[in-house]
Amino acid sequence: MRTSVAIIGAGPAGLLLARLLQRQGIDSVVLESRSREHVEHRQRAGILEQGTIDVLRECGAGERMDREGLPHDGIELRFGRAGHRIDMAALTGGRQVMVYAQTEVVRDLVALRLESGSPLLFEAEALAVEGAEGEQPRVRYRHDGAEQVLAADYVVGTDGFHGVARKSIPPERVRTYERTYPYAWLGILASVPPSTDELIYANHERGFALHSMRSTQVSRLYLQVPPDTSLQDWPDEEIWAELDRRFEVDADWKLQRGPITERSVTPMRSFVSEPLRHGRLLLAGDAAHIVPPTGAKGLNLAAADVTLLARALGSSLLRGDDAELDAYSDTALRRVWRAEHFSYFMTTLLHTDPAADDFGRRLQLSHLDYVANSTAAATSLAENYVGLPLPAGPA
Ligand code: APR
Ligand code: PHB
Repeated sequence: MRTSVAIIGAGPAGLLLARLLQRQGIDSVVLESRSREHVEHRQRAGILEQGTIDVLRECGAGERMDREGLPHDGIELRFGRAGHRIDMAALTGGRQVMVYAQTEVVRDLVALRLESGSPLLFEAEALAVEGAEGEQPRVRYRHDGAEQVLAADYVVGTDGFHGVARKSIPPERVRTYERTYPYAWLGILASVPPSTDELIYANHERGFALHSMRSTQVSRLYLQVPPDTSLQDWPDEEIWAELDRRFEVDADWKLQRGPITERSVTPMRSFVSEPLRHGRLLLAGDAAHIVPPTGAKGLNLAAADVTLLARALGSSLLRGDDAELDAYSDTALRRVWRAEHFSYFMTTLLHTDPAADDFGRRLQLSHLDYVANSTAAATSLAENYVGLPLPAGPA
């Protein structure tokens, strides 16, 4: 098989890239190792920043998001038994976030791709990327029990942290940067209306807690736990009791409980692999970088990468102008590192560091107090949370 752009991975990055290329009349083939059922049900992120909202609307994939998503102007920081609202829209000239689960974004993009009749192969595992340094890169993949080859002008690895694309780059050409954290998130989905209109990020001496949501009927909640936590150690009653302790507040507020329908323990990591290009192989999304989930940046960084990459591939393939493609890695990495820092900032600001001494704990409380009471500090958090504008596209 042959195509202009071979895309490995049908997560949000790969699917959105395929859509953005298709809108420019550029053909692509998406290879996804898992089943449609699997990719549409993986519980992942739930917050879309302004740029992601905009690109989904612009490419005709935002209709259900606008119908079912929940636009939010602010978040609450809760510490010292008090809540502090950060009015992000007011601080950023009206930029917002949208509560709309990654599963729904994936479902919408899969449906559009299949309706268009363009190739999206499920249970098609990419085995290797070959010839990236030449003019005719190709992907060897297994599908329907047979090994096959997909030739392309460009190959894009949107195959996540464990994918094959990044690993196909010669190690001597790759620089990686990594930080792990001494805690993880225990996450639950509960069939109960959220006990808050906006997200609550709680810093408590017992540990961090987050009250998010998936809809007006489903709550999404997280607890900071030790990295090696087993779900067996956390019966439902204990999860709710610990959430109650960490959300304690001097106000008439109560966390509503309901049936827990999903549980998971997610480790935390910051990771960047540079550069995002090797010849005719490009990387985007989790294939190139990972952020701790505190800043809700993972999905949004993936969307920003492929928005830049779709523009660059369009200029190259349609107009023979390679300038944006040659600059893609540096342009994307500038934004990646901004989001890496913001995610690190939110994580260390809000989580209880088991190794912190009393001085460190007081510094953290002072920083929280500063963010809650300084317009300048709150604006810095707000503009990063709602997402900084992408560099302007070609005129
Ligand atoms: N061949 C084909 N597909 C593969 C292969 C392979 N060898 N390896 C991985 N994949 C697929 C995975 O099954 C997955 O569907 O690539 C896809 C990668 O999707 P994501 O991991 O969701 O990565 P990305 O699209 O960059 O989106 C980042 O997803 O993981 C979350 O927190 C992350 O919200 C962020 C978002
Ligand atoms: C989520 O709803 O899954 C979520 C929301 C905000 C975050 C992280 C995760 O910062």
